[in-house]
Amino acid sequence: METKKTVWITGASSGIGEALAKAFSAEGNQVILSSRNGQELERVRQSCAFPEKCFVVTLDLADPDSLDAAAKTVLEKFGYVDMLINNGGISQRSLVAETPLDIDRKIMQVDYFSGVQLAKAVLPSMLERKTGHFVAISSIVGVFGFPQRSAYSAAKHAMHGFYETLRAENEADGIRVTVVCPGRILTNVSLHALRADGHEYGIMDHAQANGISAEECAARILKAIRKNKKEIYVCRKDVLMVYFRRYIPALYYKLVSKVQPNL
Ligand SMILES: NC(=O)c1ccc[n+]([C@@H]2O[C@H](COP(=O)([O-])OP(=O)(O)OC[C@H]3O[C@@H](n4cnc5c(N)ncnc54)[C@H](OP(=O)(O)O)[C@@H]3O)[C@@H](O)[C@H]2O)c1
Repeated sequence: METKKTVWITGASSGIGEALAKAFSAEGNQVILSSRNGQELERVRQSCAFPEKCFVVTLDLADPDSLDAAAKTVLEKFGYVDMLINNGGISQRSLVAETPLDIDRKIMQVDYFSGVQLAKAVLPSMLERKTGHFVAISSIVGVFGFPQRSAYSAAKHAMHGFYETLRAENEADGIRVTVVCPGRILTNVSLHALRADGHEYGIMDHAQANGISAEECAARILKAIRKNKKEIYVCRKDVLMVYFRRYIPALYYKLVSKVQPNL
């Protein structure tokens, strides 16, 4: 990025968010690192190229009050952010038939409503300055349904509706939106995925373990941001399901009901 920006990244303590934080810092940007785990955020801050230009603001995406407090802290300190990367989130490993509604609500809060709340908190200052960029980390299951991911897939689908509308309403005022749909990326996401009983799944899925590195994912996201891409897929052959769903839906319907979701 040519001019230095202030970039707020949620889920910056691990995986894709951590890799994004390091990549943005390496370019000399100011980076605000957010998630629940202050110690891990501090570790990431120290490992950034310019730790003195990185700031830790803890928050819990499940807790709207903590999001209000974090937004207040960020806006009081910086006045505005140039970019909000709604990246923090949790996945799911449970069937619709066994999943209690409170798990659906929790995943919708953490993966969808939290991002909406933060977006609404920073949008007014972006509109005032007539510039701002939202980066929404969705998933390829944000564009098709997938077994054992009902709430997760729903939350990611919801992100697309929200951000496409936000872009349509505000593009003329200098607001940009990039929606990112990763396929399998090598992170801890499957370890922390929620089961029907609310506990963590705790298993590194085979496909996850063989996924694209978080660093390569971050590099592809930065490239897309620079080009102001509206939607990108960070995938290998898993992108095929996106195209089957779009162009050969009968094939997608056949495959998705037979798929082994955790391989
Ligand atoms: N890895 C993949 O294959 C893949 C594929 C598609 C989409 N994605 C998406 O990529 C994003 C990043 O995930 P990742 O793969 O990098 O997984 P990850 O390594 O597990 O990172 C998840 C991040 O979200 C944060 N987080 C989780 N719950 C939170 C909460 N309640 N409050 C605040 N922060 C919370 C975690 O931080 P704390 O624990 O410190 O709070 C962590 O920094 C997610 O939105 C995920 O859905 C990942």
